[in-house]
Amino acid sequence: MRILIISDIHSNWPALAAVQEPFDVCLCVGDLVEYGPQPIEVIQWVRERALHCVRGNHDHGTAQNIDVFGVGGFRYLTMATRHSTIELLNADDRRYLADLPTVKLFTLAGKRYLMVHASPRDPLDEYVPADAAQWATRIAGFAVDYVLVGHTHQQFSMDVGKTKVINPGSLGLQRDGNPMARYAIIDNGQIELKQIEYDYEATVAALGNTSFDLKAKQMLADVYRTGRYVHPTTGVNGHTEMNGSYAKVKAIA
Ligand SMILES: [Fe+2]
Repeated sequence: MRILIISDIHSNWPALAAVQEPFDVCLCVGDLVEYGPQPIEVIQWVRERALHCVRGNHDHGTAQNIDVFGVGGFRYLTMATRHSTIELLNADDRRYLADLPTVKLFTLAGKRYLMVHASPRDPLDEYVPADAAQWATRIAGFAVDYVLVGHTHQQFSMDVGKTKVINPGSLGLQRDGNPMARYAIIDNGQIELKQIEYDYEATVAALGNTSFDLKAKQMLADVYRTGRYVHPTTGVNGHTEMNGSYAKVKAIA
């Protein structure tokens, strides 16, 4: 059985359309929407093809129309694209996002899977890096062969005890300086971490059809072309900036 694992598509239809893998089963680890210009096409593709899909924090934000606070980097982009995403989607698509489970346990070809966007401890929001010790505490008690996660946009595969923890990386929004689209394949137990070229200029062009503000369009065009966001005056990488904002929010909460 050949399993395609995708995550963090973020309304980037040209990136998703570039995945030309044959597969028997598709699994989606959440964050279908926000940031990008084409949520309708992405949701339709996932609804038609993914056997299982879990809800990401951005799917939740769009489904529930949650306000975003913060002016830096990716927090600004979430705020600037959420309302436009909601306007584009019909009630049925938003209901689909709202109904997605946050944690999914299932068996495929005799192997047990746990799928969650962020972590079992905090399914929508916790950032857990590619660190086996941290994952060991998160998945203790789950007797599964595979744990599939997303959220950090960091592609990895690691052994944690007898469990393989896989993050397929982000299909549609990179933060590491490499603009290529990422996903993963499990083919009869062999794990492949993939990165492919896609037509990111088509994604940039599609921004022109959105109601995003000019600042958001320019920031996103930079992210699609360079694979990261760098603050124009401070030079701070957006990922670092985002994590800083996030840590502050969590500390207050
Ligand atoms: Fe994401």
